[in-house]
Amino acid sequence: MAWAPGETIGPVTVGPVAHGGHCVARVDGRVVFVRHALPGEVVEVRITEDAHASYARGDAVAVLEPAEGRVVPPCPVAGPGGCGGCDFQHVDLAMQRELKRRIVAEQLMRLATYEWDGEVEVVGNASGLGWRTRMRYQVASDGTLGLRAHRSHEIVRLPEQGCLIAHPDQPALEGLYEPGLEVVVAGHGAQSAVVVDGEVASGQRTLVEQAAGRSWRVAADGFWQVHEDAPETLVRAVLEGLDPHPGETAWDLYCGVGLFAGALVDAGASVRGVESSGRAVRDAMRNVPEADFTAGRVELVTRRWPSRVDLVVCDPPRTGLGKAAVAQVVRRQPRRVAYVACDPAALARDIATFAAAGYSVKSLRAFDIFPMTQHVECVAVLAR
Ligand SMILES: C[S@@+](CC[C@H](N)C(=O)[O-])C[C@H]1O[C@@H](n2cnc3c(N)ncnc32)[C@H](O)[C@@H]1O
Repeated sequence: MAWAPGETIGPVTVGPVAHGGHCVARVDGRVVFVRHALPGEVVEVRITEDAHASYARGDAVAVLEPAEGRVVPPCPVAGPGGCGGCDFQHVDLAMQRELKRRIVAEQLMRLATYEWDGEVEVVGNASGLGWRTRMRYQVASDGTLGLRAHRSHEIVRLPEQGCLIAHPDQPALEGLYEPGLEVVVAGHGAQSAVVVDGEVASGQRTLVEQAAGRSWRVAADGFWQVHEDAPETLVRAVLEGLDPHPGETAWDLYCGVGLFAGALVDAGASVRGVESSGRAVRDAMRNVPEADFTAGRVELVTRRWPSRVDLVVCDPPRTGLGKAAVAQVVRRQPRRVAYVACDPAALARDIATFAAAGYSVKSLRAFDIFPMTQHVECVAVLAR
């Protein structure tokens, strides 16, 4: 049985939520990944992709039997065929966190045989809107701004009120832009910038963020945690998990502009940081002059570092650490490792690698720093 994209099938009974934010349904012996649905719902599905033998993808376009937690999305361009940024606007915030809890627990069990019984913790304001301090807009063919549709190059025009998850104090964007360009809006209020096609068009080239009792220089188009409350939340979780003692040695891997390195220095540790972006490393050196930063790839730079370290914090991109970087960490036999993860699948794979080297999970917390989306941030603490 194959379906044509655009074909509507149903009624379909929707099964469990899965990594990626869709729910899994079975129709005529085939798997369909259904977006904009909730487990237990009966829906009609419009097929969006049927390119694989084992599964197809689709959107719930009509809800015949809604499940508890379904709401009307606050944004008019969220939902089937709309903006790809928000996967969960059709779900109330408590159920969004419950779905993320199930995704994290399932990934940890499947890939690391680790039974997690935690909750996804609330971060920031109660609306789940207005939290995002970094926005990446695309310019449509008529010069107006939009955001990409899900798994597509199509650009969905912004609604009149703008993107609802963007911070309300971001600079307003007026006028038309050259089609095909990308417009990044970074920061908010007095510390903000608009970057068009890599060039700062207005605002500062370097923003100064405040977090964890320090000021942080960061390039307007450089990496900074996107939720306004994420830096404080993650620093607190990392420090609680590592419990640094004055005089201990520590590594901050994938350190960006040195956020965790600064917090560890303030706790009395002697810190080395590594990061692949040269510009971020230059900012880290100015942000945390007490630490020793190197520009380069974690898996290569750490090979040259001392044979022992007490504490490690790592905050890799979605791909995770991978075996080569984990090997460099476990060789140094740190007392504790705090792993900050934006992808629970990569985290679970790396936890399995750590486990094979004698490290087990001491605690694992999950934070809702990406409300309205399927994304979730975890902080796992591992110890020998
Ligand atoms: C999720 S960010 C974390 C930044 C920082 N910890 C923070 O909270 O602001 C991941 C960082 O890893 C860097 N990166 C990606 N791959 C890398 C690699 N193989 N080695 C070193 N840094 C890398 C990116 O440039 C990015 O700054």
